[in-house]
Amino acid sequence: MDVHIVFLLMIMVADARDIYEKIGYFWHITDIHYDSLYHNGARKGCWKAEHEGGNSASRLQRGPAGRFGDYSCDASWDLIESAAQMMKSKHNDVNVEFILWTGDSLSHFTKHHQDTKKLETLQNLTDLLHKTFSSQFVFPALGHDDPSSRKKMGEMWSRWFPADSLKTFVQGGYYMFERKTEKLQIVVLNTNLMRKGENDVDAAKQWDWLLAVMRKLKKNGETAYLVGHMAPGCDERQRAIQGTHSQAFTDYYNKKYLSLVRQFSEIIVGQFFGHLHSDTFRVIYNERGHPASWAMLAPALTPRRTADGPNNPGLRLYKFNQNTGQILDYTQYYLDLTTANLDNQAKWSVEYNFSAHYMINNITPLALHNLAEKLSNASGDNPTFNRYYRANSVRFHSNQHSSCDATCAHAHYCGITRLDYQEHEHCLKTAASVVASYSLTSTPLNCFSLLSLFAIFKVR
Ligand SMILES: *[C@@H]1O[C@H](CO)[C@@H](O)[C@H](O)[C@H]1NC(C)=O
Ligand SMILES: *[C@@H]1O[C@H](CO)[C@@H](O)[C@H](O)[C@H]1NC(C)=O
Ligand SMILES: *[C@@H]1O[C@H](CO)[C@@H](O)[C@H](O)[C@H]1NC(C)=O
Repeated sequence: MDVHIVFLLMIMVADARDIYEKIGYFWHITDIHYDSLYHNGARKGCWKAEHEGGNSASRLQRGPAGRFGDYSCDASWDLIESAAQMMKSKHNDVNVEFILWTGDSLSHFTKHHQDTKKLETLQNLTDLLHKTFSSQFVFPALGHDDPSSRKKMGEMWSRWFPADSLKTFVQGGYYMFERKTEKLQIVVLNTNLMRKGENDVDAAKQWDWLLAVMRKLKKNGETAYLVGHMAPGCDERQRAIQGTHSQAFTDYYNKKYLSLVRQFSEIIVGQFFGHLHSDTFRVIYNERGHPASWAMLAPALTPRRTADGPNNPGLRLYKFNQNTGQILDYTQYYLDLTTANLDNQAKWSVEYNFSAHYMINNITPLALHNLAEKLSNASGDNPTFNRYYRANSVRFHSNQHSSCDATCAHAHYCGITRLDYQEHEHCLKTAASVVASYSLTSTPLNCFSLLSLFAIFKVR
């Protein structure tokens, strides 16, 4: 065949692919933790002296708190506004279809505030997002630091909720946004219910509802994103593991959730969470030990230092195939907080693109499994791990590997690949080299092989 014809054919195929692969974008915003008392110039804590009552953080950095925030404090309004402006400025470049807003919008420090005050604060954030995204839908998910009145929040967000979603939201804080003309549906969970006892009535109702929703989607040949504040599994950071906050779900619900994901892994094309304030991901394996599903955990907008370390403010833009929901890539944006405060100007920039950062072109369970394996046994100079680790704190730990030794790196690997609590514990106890060579053979994961593995390790 003539070379030109081949070339022409190639162009036609590429065009058809573009049309078929209707590309869209969505933002993932999480853990804003807006502190309305934050004071630019605060010297001791994060607030004006008259507000301080032993309640606020002792600060990591010396000198006055800056305009765009402080690594020990929750988000200032100027920081949040700069984030909104940055997102708005991208409107001309990309067609943003919707926004995932996964909770913890209010400051930890305002826990003791009345619900009316909390609702006012949330209203201001809602207004800002509405102004920023006047023609898009925002899908909010509840975090544990959000107000308690679901009825009031339902009213506040009614412009985004169709009536049938509003009903389950007010009932239990969960909903499905049925996009009538699309194959991809968005299922928003109230992960606060995952922390409750097994006999909790609301939690039970969410499970029944979720199962029914997933069955219906499967029957209709549709796909789903599962969206929530807290992810299943454990915190990947070593210091968190040593503490008591490493697990968000009860063991019972964690298992139940993982089993549901395995059951519907064919139609779940993405899981999106926040809560940990860190940039990381999870791989969920099926009963035969094969990678079956994945979850992405996006970093927080708030920089605040918790026991597990602070981060630079982050925002994430996903690129996806609108027909199937397949995630193609994401761009992680960030604000270098120190520089922003010094310059008195918030210059948000691209931290990295997933595809270029990890050399992965499609975000699939297998691709992420392979990435996780590259992160395992990360002793010495592992460039992939260093890139991952720098991103984990949104470049707060910019001196790369130095602050994460082999034990710390191994904790990340276990957090990413072992979501079941018992498997996670075994992974932590098992030496990195054994785990790595073990997963290279990719034998199915079961209690038996784990036990024998443990035995080998002990004998050595
Ligand atoms: C909310 O916005 C109003 C109007 O701009 C302002 O007066 C109020 O102080 C804000 N409240 C909070 C908690 O940010
Ligand atoms: C990252 O991806 C975005 C959107 O796909 C693109 O506009 C940008 O040029 C990419 N940046 C880099 C550094 O690759
Ligand atoms: C893991 O690291 C150790 C020490 O650097 C090395 O001896 C071993 O071969 C590594 N194992 C794998 C599977 O890469």
